[in-house]
Amino acid sequence: MRRYQWILAIVLAVAPGLAQPSDAREGARNSSEAQFFPASGERGMVSSQDALASRVGAQILASGGNAIDAAVATGFALAVTLPRAGNLGGGGFMMIHLAATGKTIAIDYREMAPSAASPEMFLTSDGDVDRTKILGSGLASGVPGTVAGLVHVQRRYGRLPLIDVLSPAIALARNGFKVPYALADSLEKSKKRLQADAGSAAYFYKPSGVVYVQGETLVQTDLADTLSRISKFGAEGFYQGAVAEKIVAQMARSGGVITRQDLKNYRVVEREPVCGNYREHQVCSMPPPSSGGIHLVQMLNILEGWNLRALGHNSADYIHRLAASMQRAYADRSQYLGDPDFVDVPQSRLTDKRYAESLRQQIDVKHAIASAEVAPGLREQRVESTETTHFSTWDAEGNAVSNTYTLNWAYGSGVAVIGAGFLLNNEMDDFAAKPGARNSYNLVGGEANAIAPAKRPLSSMTPALVFDKKGLPLLATGSPGGSTIITVVLQVVLNFLDFNMNIAEATAAPRIHYQWIPDQLYYEVGISKDTLHRLKNMGHNIGATPRRLGAANSIAAKPNGGTSGIADYRREDAAAVAESIRD
Ligand code: DON
Repeated sequence: MRRYQWILAIVLAVAPGLAQPSDAREGARNSSEAQFFPASGERGMVSSQDALASRVGAQILASGGNAIDAAVATGFALAVTLPRAGNLGGGGFMMIHLAATGKTIAIDYREMAPSAASPEMFLTSDGDVDRTKILGSGLASGVPGTVAGLVHVQRRYGRLPLIDVLSPAIALARNGFKVPYALADSLEKSKKRLQADAGSAAYFYKPSGVVYVQGETLVQTDLADTLSRISKFGAEGFYQGAVAEKIVAQMARSGGVITRQDLKNYRVVEREPVCGNYREHQVCSMPPPSSGGIHLVQMLNILEGWNLRALGHNSADYIHRLAASMQRAYADRSQYLGDPDFVDVPQSRLTDKRYAESLRQQIDVKHAIASAEVAPGLREQRVESTETTHFSTWDAEGNAVSNTYTLNWAYGSGVAVIGAGFLLNNEMDDFAAKPGARNSYNLVGGEANAIAPAKRPLSSMTPALVFDKKGLPLLATGSPGGSTIITVVLQVVLNFLDFNMNIAEATAAPRIHYQWIPDQLYYEVGISKDTLHRLKNMGHNIGATPRRLGAANSIAAKPNGGTSGIADYRREDAAAVAESIRD
């Protein structure tokens, strides 16, 4: 009889250095022999923003599920235990690597604009964007994609019956779970906004608005019923029938326009990943409607022209080149990116090495160039709290999943579907509601990202997979953080590949962020004062105070076999859980 002991290690974020022995430093990245193979007894790993959800994923691996089953189980569990970002009412992207065929697939389950959406729907009579409507009303929501996405991948690539991967989430919702620190803290901070909505007030607070404290039990019966319907009827249990009726009724109460037909029409799309070669490795991520993959590859292409290691990690010269590459990429993002089912995105040109070289030549390695002087680059073509969450799973066969999903803001629009127990997204703000107007991440956009019925808003989510020369997976990573997602993922990848850090070091290292508009270089605690001083002298506008940038929950192949996981210390309660067999 086989005996499982599934929590071999809970690698808590506060001790990132423990995740991997230091002899792994000269790791797989430099070895021509690098390849993934399971360590003896290891059955896989899950890294997510919530320890309970990571354990659910690990439990699924223990019961014979693969990395896809584990990812789906983790995704549904996070919808219960991490309501600020885990979700049924949002959407996201999943990268799947299948060991058996060597194939990598990009799953698009991004929200779609309702059929009644129009480019002017959020404009006031003065022509301004109505920020309350686009972020905090029924109109803020796109048609949710999460349930369709998770059920789709489970049915197509998973191994277990759907009911098995949903059961842990149903149990957590029905029996309740002990509220962890981060949830208690964020519910306290969000109480004004959430208690303004009858459903959210009832689901996430005690009577009279009393906030749960850490250790108290949160039961979500309506959510358990919704999950249970999904387990019985698949995606139809959400997009049709009783749950769909409740979503439509909620639209009537909160001024939204999602119809039964919009729900029925929701489609998951399997897309070709965007992949680029970076030095000896291949980096793959999401194509549009995410901007993540294109700009990750574009920035890597620009940076490939310099010997970054020789510059020194987080030196002023290194950060300057990072920021300059980010400036070019985000300028392009504002103009060329949108839903590829609606607009032509010049993907191959943006990810072309020659284009990167031309951008690199425009970069002054000694001085910052003001953003006002930098326009989107494909000139000849010019016609004129946030909260998300990332998790990674990996199984002993070498299947790997990198998933980022979101409600956009923490708790989305703040509107919960009464009777169905879940929150709705406010993803419509990721469209360019008006050309040139900034959204909540200070991102600007134009025609390519204008609102249209059934269109998917442009995203920055960047679930990424990195492969070695033989095409075997080395790293699964991704992050929340709105506009900072792409630059956070870029730095995790560079730390891992160029600076030869193990995944714990690569995750913990202080980060910077720059996005063209505003012309500000943001940084985390740990970038030295001397470095900031030098950057200032080079002409950078340095953000006033340090910011916490992203939260990358990653898994990497260890050179000696098996995987090493890390949950980012930037979010309390995150955990990487390994599953293994012990005699
Ligand atoms: O899709 C996007 O790019 C945004 N809706 C992501 C929002 C986000 O990451 C908020 N989290 N920290």
